[in-house]
Amino acid sequence: MIFRSILAWALGLAAGLPLAAPAAAQETVKVGLIATLTGPQAASGRQKVAGARLYMAEKGNMVAGKRIELIIKDDTGVADVTRRHAQELIVNDKVAALAGFSLTPLALAVAPVITQAKTPAIIMTAGTSIITERSPYFVRVSFTLPQQTVPVAEWVAKEGAKTAVSLVSDYGPGIDAQDAFKMRFEERGGKVIDQLKAPLANPEFAPFLQKARDLKPDVLFLFVPAPTAGALMRQVIDRGLTSANIRVVGTGDITDDDQLNGIGDNVLGLITSHFYSAAHGSAANQKFVAEFKKANPGMRPNFIGVSGYDGMHAFYEALKKTNGDTSGDKLVEAMKGLTWESPRGMMTIDPQTRDVIQDVYIRKVEKKDGELYNVEFDVVKQVKDPIHK
Ligand code: DHB
Repeated sequence: MIFRSILAWALGLAAGLPLAAPAAAQETVKVGLIATLTGPQAASGRQKVAGARLYMAEKGNMVAGKRIELIIKDDTGVADVTRRHAQELIVNDKVAALAGFSLTPLALAVAPVITQAKTPAIIMTAGTSIITERSPYFVRVSFTLPQQTVPVAEWVAKEGAKTAVSLVSDYGPGIDAQDAFKMRFEERGGKVIDQLKAPLANPEFAPFLQKARDLKPDVLFLFVPAPTAGALMRQVIDRGLTSANIRVVGTGDITDDDQLNGIGDNVLGLITSHFYSAAHGSAANQKFVAEFKKANPGMRPNFIGVSGYDGMHAFYEALKKTNGDTSGDKLVEAMKGLTWESPRGMMTIDPQTRDVIQDVYIRKVEKKDGELYNVEFDVVKQVKDPIHK
């Protein structure tokens, strides 16, 4: 075997043929994808890994003459594990960038690490506004909760709702969503009569839902992280809230495309606002959904899957712009202002904030071809985070 390859090499030399560079000499650029693949938030990691892998399968792994290698780590949803993986990926594996981050506390845990190492970190889920301010090396391709919440707050006010109660998971993105809902709903003449918060770790919503029901608001606004949506929505249905005289709305996290079919027909007609629906009608999305399903039998892409896909796009395009230079400062600079057509629609990395600017759609749960989808019927174009713009 060795003899034969030496012979082939010698013959190639003799014939004056260009030699293929030996594999070791071909420079590899590594990206460390820290995903939550076990525990209650595992659905989040599954989606972002599938999205990132699909992007690489479609575009190949050569960018600016470098071979891209994705290293996937499971942080199990625990911030100390996220931080340890980030440190090891930077120090031992010498990654050019990190990506992933399902829950807000996991993203916040790596802020000092990436700042010190000058390593970019592409946020593919975590949605609390403040995160991108915690390090100049954060770039976000997912969303912020205020960005997603304001459109549905405006929509219910326009529909004539006067009173509302909110119920959210008690941590960063929940507080952001609740505050944004109150701000915009009250600006439009409504009144939030109670803001309920349920612990993130123990998804027991029944007492909160009973309280909300007793308050008899026109609207109940909900937010939980997407992997918790099934548990929340089943309890919403069991408490009879979808048939009470209360309009249940939320951000698209509560009807995400991964969980929706499992929640069932009781949520038909439910209104949410969000940046991604598997039912989005563009050619780019139809191709994305078909390829995603083909590569991941039994799965349907949700907003986390598309953010995994777009996060790799941001990295590929940045590396092209730097001509393969992996300096963290240059990569972040190259990501600022990037604009492209994602399966979700047009999106831009805000050059000032490194946060995502994108369309936010108002959607209604409908049945199409035997499956439940969030069908978009209105849009607010190119929304910036309304808190830290
Ligand atoms: C966050 C996580 C989610 O899964 C989600 O749907 C929204 C926000 C977060 O922790 O920031």
